[in-house]
Amino acid sequence: MVPHIHPSILAADFANLERELQRIAAADLVHVDVMDNHFVPNLTIGLPVVERLAAVSPIPIDAHLMIDDADRWAPDYASAGAASVTFHVEAASDPIATARAIRARGARVGLALKPGTPADPWLDRLDEFDMILVMTVEPGFGGQSFMESTMPKLAQLAAAVERSGRDVRLQVDGGISTSTIRIAAANGADTFVAGSSVFAAADPAEAIATLRAAVSS
Ligand code: DX5
Ligand code: ZN
Repeated sequence: MVPHIHPSILAADFANLERELQRIAAADLVHVDVMDNHFVPNLTIGLPVVERLAAVSPIPIDAHLMIDDADRWAPDYASAGAASVTFHVEAASDPIATARAIRARGARVGLALKPGTPADPWLDRLDEFDMILVMTVEPGFGGQSFMESTMPKLAQLAAAVERSGRDVRLQVDGGISTSTIRIAAANGADTFVAGSSVFAAADPAEAIATLRAAVSS
């Protein structure tokens, strides 16, 4: 699968989001972290802001919901214009029904797993999802260190996707840099979220190109 780079606007200037989106227009999708201060100890933005971002963004929105009661809220992010909506399995009581509800509203659907959450229950349910997000840090904050301990789970999912023959993307999120992106790619990731390594760079477009080059070298 062609590698995709998704810059996370968690590391962007929140006072100038429209301008920040223009700086990463060369990326594939923009990763938008929605946090509710319950599922994670941090608070960001919600539906009205995601709706406006979707309206002005030059590239599609990849919404990563770190919120409780995903069953209730996640489909609304598809209606708000996100092209892809990812919710956490730990925050959903019926992940399959929620995935179907998101697809019914026209978005691709992702299932996110915290570092300690096993993938086993989902290996033969890959038909219900377009993407699995293997968190490579504990969700909640940018700028943390990549957890290599999550790589066996990623490799296990990569083998299951291969067996299934399905078009299911494998995303990694947290601590992705030009060196860790190679480790994640070697273990089967094809979709890479990068916050600080893109937005802390003097030229985000160049940082995106450098990440792309690192993953395919
Ligand atoms: C963390 C978020 C990430 C975060 C990644 O909970 O889900 O998307 O922005 O930031 P970096 O790339 O700085 O680790
Ligand atoms: Zn994220």
